[in-house]
Amino acid sequence: MRKKVIAGNWKMNMLPNEAIKFIEELIPLVKNTEHEVILCVPYTDLFYALLTAQNTNIKIGAQNMHFEESGAFTGEVSGEMLKSINVEYVIIGHSERRQYYNETDETVNKKIKAAFKNELKPIVCVGETLEQREAGKTEEIITKQTELALEGLTDEQVANTIIAYEPIWAIGTGKTATKEDANNSIKAIRNKIEQIYGQKVSSRVIIQYGGSVKSTNAKELFEMSDIDGGLVGGASLKVDEFSKIVNF
Ligand code: 13P
Repeated sequence: MRKKVIAGNWKMNMLPNEAIKFIEELIPLVKNTEHEVILCVPYTDLFYALLTAQNTNIKIGAQNMHFEESGAFTGEVSGEMLKSINVEYVIIGHSERRQYYNETDETVNKKIKAAFKNELKPIVCVGETLEQREAGKTEEIITKQTELALEGLTDEQVANTIIAYEPIWAIGTGKTATKEDANNSIKAIRNKIEQIYGQKVSSRVIIQYGGSVKSTNAKELFEMSDIDGGLVGGASLKVDEFSKIVNF
């Protein structure tokens, strides 16, 4: 039985003092959950967030990393750097990074490998645009993105990868995929993993849904057979709302 994993993606929001306050308020609200709770915060919040969440069930993640260990890459942060301060998770290949920062399936794959090398757990985002969806290409796009992202990983690494299915048209738009649609897309991703890595591996992979998840739709989405929780953007910036999502 897979557990549910609820991750907040704060994107470029929250100053350190706001992050500390948020986590202090969140701790008692989620301390009894059986679900995994992760906050993926800006680099400048990581250290404060890790300290504040220490000895609690709240895990901390970053939102991106470089695939190289070190070197002349001005402005970049490596997996080794994240690991050195005890970060546990890292989002890789978010559609905003694919769209604005030239992230490709190839760099996503390299970053996932670098994450595992540094004992970080990757949360890998895949998802189709509205145009691709309307052209009936959703399944083709998301299964191909998944296949390329996971290329060359060991079975154990694949089983430990979290995938976030985030239809791009649902991100920050208030439009959510229907629970059936989201579940079918996630099933297609799981089937693709099964084809390549076998059922033993595919049945272990956590696959989240992301895109306008709120406290009012979390339960119906997360109760679907193949949806193992969510990657939450806007609604993860309010303690009350996020804790309701965690405790769906
Ligand atoms: P919203 O929840 O704001 O739609 O964002 C989803 C997302 O991009 C999470 O990574």
